Amino acid sequence: MSHLLHLDSSARSDSFSRRLGAAFVAAWHDAGGGEVTHRDLAADPVPPIREGWTRICDTLLGECITDIERYEEAVRTEEEREAWAVVRPLLDELVAADVVLIGAPMYNFGVPAALKAWIDQVTFPKMVLAPRKLVVVAGRGGAYGPGTPREPFDHHGRYLLDFFNGHYAVADGEVVAAELVNSLVDPALAGRRDQHVDSFADALHRAGELGGKLAGHRIPREG
Ligand SMILES: Cc1cc2nc3c(=O)[nH]c(=O)nc-3n(C[C@H](O)[C@H](O)[C@H](O)COP(=O)(O)O)c2cc1C
Repeated sequence: MSHLLHLDSSARSDSFSRRLGAAFVAAWHDAGGGEVTHRDLAADPVPPIREGWTRICDTLLGECITDIERYEEAVRTEEEREAWAVVRPLLDELVAADVVLIGAPMYNFGVPAALKAWIDQVTFPKMVLAPRKLVVVAGRGGAYGPGTPREPFDHHGRYLLDFFNGHYAVADGEVVAAELVNSLVDPALAGRRDQHVDSFADALHRAGELGGKLAGHRIPREG
């Protein structure tokens, strides 16, 4: 059965990225997808990396290792053991997944600090995670789609795709975003509410479509 790792990172308990993630997961279950591991990085944050983490990382730098057991060889001091105790479960969850679903609000043109902390933690030297699939479900206050004036300010969806591609060779990720969320609260954007409603409806549809489609996605594994 396929395995989904689902991360949430919105500071809001009821949020657009969470609703889109829920639509993906509902469709995943409907289509017979397997186990879902859910981690709420906002409610249960992972700490920033510290010195012990960098020492393990520096020992292994340059190696391309997907066998997590091999990392243990670089863990020697108490400081490194403490760092490893945080990283190990995060890496296990990532490697166990066939599909990674990330709920990511846009904060300050980028990703929330809670999500960035997770990214830093799992950035061990190198792992090839292809052909796993990545889906980012997002809420954004403004509009950042192709051709919009704010497109160059997107250091959010673009960044997550680049990180998974550049670091893990996961090349075919997709960002599904509900845009113009601020039109619900910002009078200056009130005239664009219809656009937001359409954008959210399209995103909900696409999130469901992807959840159904990827429910059958399994990566080849040894043994
Ligand atoms: C701390 C913070 C920073 C934000 N920065 C931006 C931003 O740079 N650009 C933008 O379009 N919206 C920004 N927003 C609005 C959020 O992207 C919007 O509320 C979105 O719906 C958040 O996703 P969520 O509904 O999943 O929480 C920001 C919101 C917060 C709370």
